[in-house]
Amino acid sequence: MSEQNKDLTFERMKEGDLEEVLRIEKESFSDPWTKESFLEDINKDFTYPAVARKDGKLVGYTCLWKIEDELQIANIAVDKEHRCQGIAKKLMEWIIEQGLKQACKSVTLDVRVSNSVALTLYRKFGFEQIGRRKNYYRFPVEDAIIMEKKL
Ligand SMILES: CC(C)(COP(=O)(O)OP(=O)(O)OC[C@H]1O[C@@H](n2cnc3c(N)ncnc32)[C@H](O)[C@@H]1OP(=O)(O)O)[C@@H](O)C(=O)NCCC(=O)NCCS
Repeated sequence: MSEQNKDLTFERMKEGDLEEVLRIEKESFSDPWTKESFLEDINKDFTYPAVARKDGKLVGYTCLWKIEDELQIANIAVDKEHRCQGIAKKLMEWIIEQGLKQACKSVTLDVRVSNSVALTLYRKFGFEQIGRRKNYYRFPVEDAIIMEKKL
């Protein structure tokens, strides 16, 4: 799975990445995934947890779930120190490429209604709102917007 996208490299997440991943996760989310959630993704067949490295340093990650012909983005974050440098855009390009390679018909995701940065990013990549889950998130309780990009 190791691949390059200009100056970023992508590879399957390993247990040894979790210290860095959990640090970024805790900085990024009010209700972060636990170590156990990431370990489950690392050990399942239909999941593609991946880390992005720049000059060898782990700068972001995503957890993808392939469910039939849909690729779900279950998690995505970029290290605070490396934000606004186009890393999420490269992660999104890589994710879409994986969806096409896996013959998926769509990429989907859930996002907090208040997460305007992420919503802007997804819209830029052609994702459209296809639904809303009432009070889906906690800390704080908030609706999720369900988005889809057809491939
Ligand atoms: C959302 C996130 C992944 C974006 O990562 P990033 O590497 O900083 O994003 P990029 O630099 O690739 O920017 C991508 C686009 O997002 C938008 N964006 C990024 N930072 C922004 C900011 N501070 N304000 C407004 N828009 C912003 C812009 O549209 C930008 O495109 P542009 O550079 O062409 O204007 C990052 O902010 C993050 O990890 N947030 C916390 C975790 C999170 O919310 N994940 C999404 C859960 S659904």
